Amino acid sequence: MTIFSAVKRIAVLGSGNGSNFEALHSEFGDQICLVISDRPGSGILKKAEAVGVSAITEKSGPELNARILARLQDIDLVCLAGFMRMVKEPFLSAFEKRILNIHPSLLPRFPGQEAWKQALDAGEDETGCTVHFVDAGIDTGEMILQERVPILENDTAESLHRRIQQAEHRIYPEALRRVIATLPHES
Ligand code: GRF
Repeated sequence: MTIFSAVKRIAVLGSGNGSNFEALHSEFGDQICLVISDRPGSGILKKAEAVGVSAITEKSGPELNARILARLQDIDLVCLAGFMRMVKEPFLSAFEKRILNIHPSLLPRFPGQEAWKQALDAGEDETGCTVHFVDAGIDTGEMILQERVPILENDTAESLHRRIQQAEHRIYPEALRRVIATLPHES
C-alpha cells in the first residue's frame, strides 16, 4: 500500500543573518531539515544549530555547485535565503522548478544586489519583495508571489530594508506552501 504524504524535505541555503530561515522554520518545522552556507560562522548556521537543524558549510571555490548538489540527495525543495552565490550546473538542472529565491524588490524591477537601495536611489514611492523560481539568470526566474512595500518620505536604506524583510517573512512561507501544493505527494 502506498502512503501518500505532503511532507517534504526542504534545504535552505544562505550566506547571512538567517531571518528568512527563521520565518520558514517557524512555519514548516522539521520539514526544514538542512541549512547550507558558504560563510563559516554566519548567522543562518547559528540559527539552524540553535533549533537542531543540520547546518553545514560549503565554502566558495572549485565545484561549489557540485558539492552542494551532493549534499541534497534526499531533498525535495531548496530555498535560497540571502545566498550570495550563483546557482549553476549541475545543481540547476537537477532541481529545475524546485529552487526558490527571495529578492528584495518587485521584480523585474531592480534585480541584483542591494535592491532596496536601488529603489530608494531611483526615487520610487514603492518597492517590495518577490519569491521566484531560480533559473540561470540573475533574479530572472518565474515569479511565484510578491508583496508591495511603500517607500516613506524619511526612509533610510536601513529602515526600508527592515520593512521589506518583514514582508519577506510573510510571503516566503506562503510561496513555499503554494509550490508544495503543486508537487506530487509520494511516501
Ligand atoms: C533578504 O533581504 C533577501 O531578500 C536577500 O538577502 C536577505 C537575506 O536576509 N536576498 P536573511 O539572511 O534571511 O536575514
